[in-house]
Amino acid sequence: MNLNILVLPGDGIGEEVTREAVRVLQHVARKHRHTLQLTEGLLGGVAIHRTGTPLPDETVRLAVDADATLLGAVGLPEFDTAPPERRPEKGLLGIRKALGVFANLRPVRAYRALLDSSPLKNALVEGTDMIIVRELTGGIYYGTPRGISGAGAEERAVNSMVYTRPEIERVARMAFTLARGRRRKVASVDKSNVLENSQLWRRVVTEIAAEFPEVALEHILVDNCAMQLILNPRRFDIVLTENMFGDILSDEGAVLAGSIGMLPSASIGARKPSGAWVGLYEPVHGSAPDIAGQNKANPLGAIGSVAAMLEYSFGLKEEAAAINAAVEAVLDSGRVTADLKPAGAPATTSQVGDAVIEALS
Ligand code: IPM
Ligand code: MG
Repeated sequence: MNLNILVLPGDGIGEEVTREAVRVLQHVARKHRHTLQLTEGLLGGVAIHRTGTPLPDETVRLAVDADATLLGAVGLPEFDTAPPERRPEKGLLGIRKALGVFANLRPVRAYRALLDSSPLKNALVEGTDMIIVRELTGGIYYGTPRGISGAGAEERAVNSMVYTRPEIERVARMAFTLARGRRRKVASVDKSNVLENSQLWRRVVTEIAAEFPEVALEHILVDNCAMQLILNPRRFDIVLTENMFGDILSDEGAVLAGSIGMLPSASIGARKPSGAWVGLYEPVHGSAPDIAGQNKANPLGAIGSVAAMLEYSFGLKEEAAAINAAVEAVLDSGRVTADLKPAGAPATTSQVGDAVIEALS
C-alpha cells in the first residue's frame, strides 16, 4: 500500500514526540512492505513565526492532498495573551474544520503496567476501557456570534454554543457504530437541565439510537459524568459528547490512563471514495513548553496515534495491533518516561521510541 502522510510537528514537545512516532511508522511500513510518502508542514506557533499565520493555506492544501495527517501539538506561552484569532490553537481549530473531521475518538484504557501511575486506587481503575467520542467541528468552539466588545463597565464577551440537527446526527451515528463493535453501550453526555443546545442534542441522539436497537443508550449530565468517570469508570464503553464537554472529560480520562502522555486520538470525518476515513491523528496532550526540547516527553500518545491512523485511514488492522502490542510490551518493561513514574531511572523520549521499535522487531 502507498501511504501518503502529512506530518505537522507543531510546537513544544510536538516535534520530539512526532519524531518518534514517524520512526515507528517508518519501521512498520518497511516491515510490512508499504511505501511511505512523508511531507512536512507548518501549523501553530511555528507557522506564525515563519509565515505570520497559524494555519498557512499551503498546510490546508497539503492536508487535503494527503491520505492522513499526523499532528504533534500546538501552543506557545508567548501567544498566551494574543487574541484568539492570532493564537496557535486557531491553526488547530482551522485544520479540523478544513478537513471536516467531526468525530474525535479518544480511547481511554487502563494499562495493567500503569495501574500504579494513576493516583486512583488500582481496583477502581483496573479494566477501564472506553472511547470518548467528542464532536469536533461545532459547538461553542466555532459558534457565532462571538467576541469581546465595549469598554470599561460595558465590556462584555460572548460565545455561542450552536449545533444543527445534522451535526448531532452524524457524530451520534459514529458513536453507535463504534459501540456495535464493542460492549454496545453509549453514554450521551449533555447539560439538558439548563441548555437548550443540550435539549436538542438529547432529542436527536435518542432518535438515532432507534437505528441501533442492539446498543443501549443512557443520558448523563456532564457534571454527574465527571464524577462517574472517577467513581466507576468501568461502566463506560462509548462516551458521546459535544466539543467542549469532550475536551474537558478527556483530560479527566487521562488520570485513569496514568498520564495524559499516553492518550492517542483519531479525528475522522467523511470517507474517501476508497472507503478510507479522512483523518487527523494527534496525541491528546498539549505542547508542554515547560519540558520541550529536553527529550523527556512521553511519545506513546503520538505513537498510539500512528496505530489509530493505520487502522482508521488505511484499514491496516494488523499493523495497528502490532504497534499497540509493542506499546504494551514497553510499558511492561518499565522503559518509560518520567510522567509514568518508573521504578528505575526514567527513559528519554528517544529511548522510548527505540524500545517500541525493538518490541516491533
Ligand atoms: C485538545 C486541546 C485543544 C482543544 C486546544 C489545544 C485547542 O485541548 O485537543 O484537547 O481544546 O481542542
Ligand atoms: Mg484538551
